[in-house]
Amino acid sequence: MSIQLPVAHQTNDFKAIVAGRKSVRAYDPMVKISREEMTELLEEATLAPSSVNLQPWRFLVVESEEGKAKLAELAPRNLSQVQTSAAVIAVFGDMKAFDNADEIMSSAVEKGYLPQEVKEQLMANYTGLFSTVPAHVFRDMILLDTGLVSMQIMLSARSRGYDTNPIGGYDKARIAEMFDMDPERYVPSMLISIGKAAQTARPSTRLPVDRIAEWK
Ligand SMILES: Cc1cc2nc3c(=O)[nH]c(=O)nc-3n(C[C@H](O)[C@H](O)[C@H](O)COP(=O)(O)O)c2cc1C
Repeated sequence: MSIQLPVAHQTNDFKAIVAGRKSVRAYDPMVKISREEMTELLEEATLAPSSVNLQPWRFLVVESEEGKAKLAELAPRNLSQVQTSAAVIAVFGDMKAFDNADEIMSSAVEKGYLPQEVKEQLMANYTGLFSTVPAHVFRDMILLDTGLVSMQIMLSARSRGYDTNPIGGYDKARIAEMFDMDPERYVPSMLISIGKAAQTARPSTRLPVDRIAEWK
């Protein structure tokens, strides 16, 4: 199979970003992403909305040889993405995300976005609510939020001229422990490989809107 040149360019053209995002599974292994740029990308991605603004996502940016070797063991069916990408971002949901609620709301108060008394009322209400929410409901909630931030990671990457592949095919039961994270606390959501494409993506189609949407 012939290797075609990468097509991603830096752009702020929303249509080009959304239509141009395709799952790329082979990257130029020589291209790395600086910590500074990756931080900017994550900052941009975390503008995503989340339930009660808890921002329950946690990222493990795997770029070292040692880290990639562990991921290769966990994702043998997605080896080329793991091995050739600049990095793989492992996205987790944090079961203890509510512990940050006070810090998050306090920063909104400091910035003048939220009156102190409203913050206190909200904290009291949410503390009551989240103390009764069953773990599986909280888990569903945080996984929904991690999906939103993951999409923004992929779009932010594309606007910077990188390509990505969301990956669900890995050993979710082992990843937290393999990277010394608490498996009870951190729920795996997906891996996202990111790098400079070495191959164009396989084209994919979509169901027509009249098959997937209803108007009432
Ligand atoms: C949650 C999720 C998990 C996925 N897991 C894999 C995977 O394990 N391996 C892979 O090659 N692609 C994976 N994909 C990519 C899909 O196959 C791809 O998004 C789909 O075929 C549409 O193609 P496109 O992304 O190029 O538009 C995954 C996508 C999502 C959203």
